[in-house]
Amino acid sequence: MHQRTRNIVLTGFMGTGKTAVSAELAAMTGLKAVEVDAVIEQRAGISISEIFATQGEAAFRLMEAEAISALASATGSIISTGGGAVLRDDNMDALRASGTVVLLTASAETILERTARHTDTDRPLLKVNDPLAAIKELLEKRRPHYERADLTVPTDGKAPAEVAREILKRLGWKR
Ligand code: S3P
Repeated sequence: MHQRTRNIVLTGFMGTGKTAVSAELAAMTGLKAVEVDAVIEQRAGISISEIFATQGEAAFRLMEAEAISALASATGSIISTGGGAVLRDDNMDALRASGTVVLLTASAETILERTARHTDTDRPLLKVNDPLAAIKELLEKRRPHYERADLTVPTDGKAPAEVAREILKRLGWKR
């Protein structure tokens, strides 16, 4: 029944809540939640950290582009991307063509707090001496790319379910 439903694409910096909001959206809509990072890990057979460590970021970005192109050809999914997926224009073009691209935002301080809480996840870019400075620098560098999203939802101080409800309202979602 959701055969032709356009995808809902979640993008935004690490720690903006994409995974948690995606789970809420899936529960609220019945659409399937898929994660670009999980597809990359599954295809590579190793973790994101291992890919960065053994093959470097450029190799990771290529794998990311391939995973996005595969996922964007499906319909009726909630696709959550890694925070750097928007850096390539062709990724953003494919995602925008497949559905509505929603940008989740949060302050650098909120991002630091959330990412520090989940140290088990794969975020090699934040494993540095001064993660707050790294967050601020990357946010600034990525701003023009993130701004290509169709709509922006701030997440500071909000629970994932609240953010999900706001997204569905703004999309005029009807089952
Ligand atoms: C990255 C974000 C990560 C993961 C990789 C690179 C980035 O995903 O793809 O560590 O460049 O911002 P999350 O945003 O899901 O943490």
